[in-house]
Amino acid sequence: MKKNKLGWTEFHFTGIGLGTWAMGGEDWKFGWGPQDDDLSIATIHRALDLGINWIDTAAVYGLGHSETVVGKALKGMQEKPYIATKCARVWNKNKEIDYNLKRDNIIKECEDSLRRLQIERIDLYQLHWPMPEEDIEEGWSAIAELVAEGKVHYGGVCNFNAAQLARIEEIHPVASLQPPYSMLVRGIEKETLPWCKRHNIGIVGYSPMFKGLLTGAFTRERSATLPATDHRSRDPHFQEPELSINLRLVEGLSAIAARNGKTTQELAIAWTLRNPEVTAAIVGARRPEQLDDFTNAADWTLSPDDINDVEKLLVEREEALKEA
Ligand SMILES: NC(=O)c1ccc[n+]([C@@H]2O[C@H](COP(=O)([O-])OP(=O)(O)OC[C@H]3O[C@@H](n4cnc5c(N)ncnc54)[C@H](OP(=O)(O)O)[C@@H]3O)[C@@H](O)[C@H]2O)c1
Repeated sequence: MKKNKLGWTEFHFTGIGLGTWAMGGEDWKFGWGPQDDDLSIATIHRALDLGINWIDTAAVYGLGHSETVVGKALKGMQEKPYIATKCARVWNKNKEIDYNLKRDNIIKECEDSLRRLQIERIDLYQLHWPMPEEDIEEGWSAIAELVAEGKVHYGGVCNFNAAQLARIEEIHPVASLQPPYSMLVRGIEKETLPWCKRHNIGIVGYSPMFKGLLTGAFTRERSATLPATDHRSRDPHFQEPELSINLRLVEGLSAIAARNGKTTQELAIAWTLRNPEVTAAIVGARRPEQLDDFTNAADWTLSPDDINDVEKLLVEREEALKEA
């Protein structure tokens, strides 16, 4: 699988990274319904067999559970993939989740993540959200401290905008930004992408298939029967009136994918990789066979015609949403 240099760092990430949010299981506010750990581990092993060389997780996914599963899957491996994880979303004994960018919290969280992941150093340690915003400098200084100590190789951030990146870049160089990026969420295109390009900061976009919606696997029936422990059951993109409009878009996407002999999943992912400044897409999978539908996406360069045709479909979707 094609690899891309992560911004100014010496890491080379495959165009697809494996996302492990759903592997956190269902026992927390942002779960994805029931998930079997053995299946999660088999999915991680299959991803590595297919050539994916990095995994993204976070302390908060399943309140430590996703990191524990990743640690188990990689235990004893001679050559581990790059591991990216995140901090600064915390929880209490009632499983209530909050933001915390205070220095002492981040230093402690790093120890907890190293223990759960069963590693000595985190390859890419990311601030999960720029919240509370007044503390972003303090949180980023703590990441710089962990890099100096050798517990973290590179520091990155998620969900930051250009102005927030500019504030922290002065303290310590930012290796990567992890923003949401898919056909349905394009907020980074105007300012953040160009800013990262100018500063040679790697971009690893998340949810390229919009949590499974841009795959052809979602139907009205499936949306209506999502378990209450699957957070998508509360997401308006998966509810009417948006759902029908989104499903119409997916029909159009499937036709573009089919005429290229590709899957809808591949089209959704390859579209996010059409900008050379995007290093990689973080794609979530929870069963090994799901990987087979999309691992070739990183090696597909969309033609200008395909990009234009996707754009037309997205404009139609925007218009339909205005009328809905
Ligand atoms: N930094 C942040 O704030 C942030 C936020 C969100 C995500 N992320 C990261 O980005 C990763 C990817 O996000 P995501 O999980 O939302 O990404 P996604 O790739 O858009 O969606 C993944 C989901 O799509 C479904 N799916 C996977 N393969 C499929 C296939 N072949 N056919 C049909 N459906 C398929 C699976 O759910 P079902 O099978 O249940 O449908 C899977 O969990 C996360 O795991 C996480 O590591 C980070």
